[in-house]
Formats: sequence, C-alpha cells, structure tokens
Amino acid sequence: MEPRPGDKPHHLPPPTLWPIGFAVGVACVLVGLIVSWPAVAVGGAIALFFGFLWVRDLSSGTRRAEPPPVPEARAPAASPVSAETGGERFPRNRFLEGATLGLGAVIGGIVTVPPLGLMVATAFEGQKFRDIDLGPLTDFPSGEFVITTFVEDPAAGEVSRRTAYIRYNGLLSGQPSFTIISNRCAHLGCPVQPSGLPSKQSKEVKDDQGVVVLQKTMVQGTSGFACPCHGGAYNTEGNRTAGPPVRALDRYEYSIKNGRLIIGSAYSVDYVKGTGKDARIKKYPLHNPGQHVAGPEFWLWPIPELRV
Ligand code: FES
Repeated sequence: MEPRPGDKPHHLPPPTLWPIGFAVGVACVLVGLIVSWPAVAVGGAIALFFGFLWVRDLSSGTRRAEPPPVPEARAPAASPVSAETGGERFPRNRFLEGATLGLGAVIGGIVTVPPLGLMVATAFEGQKFRDIDLGPLTDFPSGEFVITTFVEDPAAGEVSRRTAYIRYNGLLSGQPSFTIISNRCAHLGCPVQPSGLPSKQSKEVKDDQGVVVLQKTMVQGTSGFACPCHGGAYNTEGNRTAGPPVRALDRYEYSIKNGRLIIGSAYSVDYVKGTGKDARIKKYPLHNPGQHVAGPEFWLWPIPELRV
C-alpha cells in the first residue's frame, strides 16, 4: 500500500553492534579454555553482557517494527491473511534469528563440550600417593643428600619407581627436619642428577620376589642438581639457578613414625626462601613439569593438569 501523506515511515530495527560484542565474548571464552580460567570468566561476562543487550534490542526493535494501528474508519473489513497467519505478531526475521542462534548454540555445544570435558577432567586426576617407609632416621646423615629410590606402588612395579634426594637438616623445635627433593626436572621432567661423589655402598631393601623396593646411596659434597636434557640447574634447595626450568624442583611431604622416615605426597614449589630447616616453602598442588605455579605466568598458562 502506498504511504499516505502524514503517515509515519515504517522503520526496521536499526543495525546494532551488540552481536559483535557477543562474538568477541564467545571468542574470549574459547581462547580462555586454552589459556586460563580467568579469561573464560571474562569472556563469559562479555558474552552475557552483550547477549543481553542484543536480545533486549531485538525485542524492542520488534516492537518498533510493528506497524501502527490502522484507524478503524479506514480499515478493510477483515484481512484473511493477517488474521489467519498472525505474521505480524511473530515476524519471520525474528524466527530466523532465533533459529540461527539456537542452531549455533547446539553446534557450539557439540564441538566444545567433549574436548572441554576431557581437558577439565584431567585437571582433577591427581596421582594417588601412599606413605612409604624409607627406613630408620640413622640412614640419613646430617647435611648430606641421600639418593633414595623407592617403589611407590608394588602392584605397579618398576613404572612406579621414584627417586628423591633426601637431606637431614638436624632438629627443628625438637623434631627431625628433612629436605626431600624430587628428581623430576621442572622443565620437561627429565631426571636431575646431584653433583658430588656418590658412595660406592648402597643400602637396599628387597621384597619377597627379590625386587629392590628401596635403595639409598649417600652423596658427599652436593652443591646442587643439574639436568642433562637441556642444561637446567638448581641449588641445594631445589631453586632454579640456570636453564629453562620454570620453577623450583618439586618436594615430598614426610613424617616421622617410630624413628623411621615416612615419605608422603609430592607437591610443587615456586621458590624456596631460606635454607635447610629454616626454609620457608609455600606448597602448591603437584603440577606437571613446565607449568608455572605462581606469578603472572601462572595466569597466562593453560589450565594446569595436576598430575605426574
Ligand atoms: S628437562 Fe630438564 S632442562 Fe629440560
């Protein structure tokens, strides 16, 4: 119908930038899934904010797009088409927008949920440690490291063999103090080696089948640890001094029971302040090699996998 003089023009909803903001938010979420959780949160907030504005704009635009009521005097008797279809109440463009968004959400969910589940699930799969008896305290001379290898899980056998460098630091508040450092390099996981002269004598404990489940070899004059793979170097507290490792060497918890040293779970360390029994250590959940546990790099790092 031709517009009559005096009729207000019938405008479509104006173009809006909200979809772009929404897309940026979704992109942030997807990148955040690779980079870090805070980025996911920021992306989600952006997507929600612009999504809300977009939806609000769409609904108000639809209302604006509805034609002005026709004066009764001039209205045709009855329009069978509009009465039957009700098209003005649910415009086609609105249906198409909703269908596109819904379909996009379904496809996005199908594409992202399975890999996201796999990625997140591994972050909660921690290695199960159990306490291991490493023998009497007298096996650990004061101030020297003892290379101690032990089978963590007899049922799993050799694959569960671990190595720790253990130093007795003397008494702290009447209790024996130990430094127990993992041999797993904080770069890519190669076994680090202590400097110094290993003793030719080892103490061994065998199981019923004759398998050596515990071996202790003393090293004299250790001045630090070095990794043969890429030149990573650490001091006697396990702090990185050179090379590509991103943090200090991991450590083990321990306890003393009936005069024997019991080694417990491993944990990660960013940096050790102080030395020996006076060392101040902030414990972090065990992280994989190459992963930062603190500082700005931690927030830029992909979702950490807390496992060995
Ligand atoms: S694995 Fe140790 S420096 Fe690379």
